[in-house]
Amino acid sequence: MKRFLADEEATQRFAREVFAGLPEGLAGWTVLLNGELGAGKSTFARALINAAGHEGAVPSPSYTLVEPYALAVGNIYHVDLYRVSSADELRYLGWTELDDGLRLVEWPDRAPELAEEADLNLVLSYEGNSRTAELEGLSARGRTLIQQIN
Ligand SMILES: Nc1ncnc2c1ncn2[C@@H]1O[C@H](COP(=O)(O)OP(=O)(O)OP(=O)(O)O)[C@@H](O)[C@H]1O
Ligand SMILES: [Mg+2]
Repeated sequence: MKRFLADEEATQRFAREVFAGLPEGLAGWTVLLNGELGAGKSTFARALINAAGHEGAVPSPSYTLVEPYALAVGNIYHVDLYRVSSADELRYLGWTELDDGLRLVEWPDRAPELAEEADLNLVLSYEGNSRTAELEGLSARGRTLIQQIN
């Protein structure tokens, strides 16, 4: 599905819609957030984490690689792979232990193998001063979610 996102608020609204389509518990879900610098990946992640019930700040995981959120609806792991150069390095960050929650992954192209186990692939692109979102289902449940929010 494709969505025109006129402004930051539209990106935030779209993130809340995607969150609403996720099942309670969030376990085992992986959402890939693609887009060049400034495309809105963190805006989307922050809005989704807030929609899930987190009220504080949502710091960038650029340096920590993973920022975990233990929320009433389930766990969310905000992951940034910008500094990761191979799927091997994912092991050091304990990737497989993050499967009890939702993994929101910025710069997933650093480890292309992730697409095989992911549910949703979001691509954010510049369109003038606005953005366009393309959301693709990579798993059966991911495709079902897209049909529900379409
Ligand atoms: N739909 C939109 N239209 C216009 N501006 C937007 C939109 N969505 C987000 N922005 C703005 O784009 C800027 C960059 O957003 P953000 O930091 O989320 O990008 P990013 O993809 O995480 O960038 P980086 O790769 O540098 O981490 C912010 O100022 C944000 O307000
Ligand atoms: Mg960012």
